[in-house]
Amino acid sequence: MEFFLDTASIEDIKFYKPLGLVDGVTTNPALLSKEGGDPIAQIKKIAEIVKGPISVEVTYTEPREMVKHAIKLNKLAPNVVIKVPASIAGLTAAQELKKAGIRMNITLIFHPSQAVPFIQLEVDYVSLFVGRVEEFGLNNKEAIWQLRQSIDEMESPTKLLSASIRNPEYLLEAVIAGSDVLTVPPSCWQMVYKNPIFQLGERDFLKSWRTLPATARKEYESLD
Ligand code: G3P
Repeated sequence: MEFFLDTASIEDIKFYKPLGLVDGVTTNPALLSKEGGDPIAQIKKIAEIVKGPISVEVTYTEPREMVKHAIKLNKLAPNVVIKVPASIAGLTAAQELKKAGIRMNITLIFHPSQAVPFIQLEVDYVSLFVGRVEEFGLNNKEAIWQLRQSIDEMESPTKLLSASIRNPEYLLEAVIAGSDVLTVPPSCWQMVYKNPIFQLGERDFLKSWRTLPATARKEYESLD
C-alpha cells in the first residue's frame, strides 16, 4: 500500500516526506491555485523533491485539447502522471494517451461505474473520491469496496487510488477496503494526530508520573 500526499504545498511535502507519508503526490487545479505563483514551476519543484508519481491534471474538457495538454504536461518531469477526468471526453482522450504510453490517473470518480471503461483500458490509477460526496449528504465508503471488487474481477493492473480522504474514518476505510494507494491531504493527518483523547491521555500519564518524587524519577529520566 502506498501513501501519497494530496497537496501542491512544498512546505507540507517537506514536512511529511521524512515521516514516510509521501510515496507520491497528487495535485489538482484547486490545490495548485491555492499555492498561487507559477503552476509549472511548482510542479517542477515538487518533482525534484519527490521521486514517486506526481499527478498533474489537465484543465480542458474537450478530448483534443485534453490530449494536447496532457502531452505538454507530461514533459514537465519523468515522474509526472496525467490526471484525466472520468468523463466520456476523458475516456476518448485516455484512449489516445494510452497509445502514446502516457501514465494516467483518472480522477473525479464518484461512482465505481465511472471507472469501469478505464479499468478495461488498464490505466495506471483510478481515483475514487470518498469524502466530497458528504457535501450532498452521501457516504461513499461502500464504493471503495465495490471498486476493489471490480478491478479484481476484471483482472486489471489498474491501481485503486482512494482520494478526497477528509477524515481519519475515511482513511481507515480506504486501508481496510484494500486501496493500492491513499492520497491523504495534510489536513487529514493533522486530524489523526490532533486527537484530543490522545492529548488528554498523554497529559494524564505525565501528571501521574510527576507525583513520584524527582529523586525517584532521576535514574529513569536520565538520558545518559
Ligand atoms: O486528489 C483529489 C482530492 O484533492 C480531492 O479532494 O476533498 O477536494 O474532494 P476533495
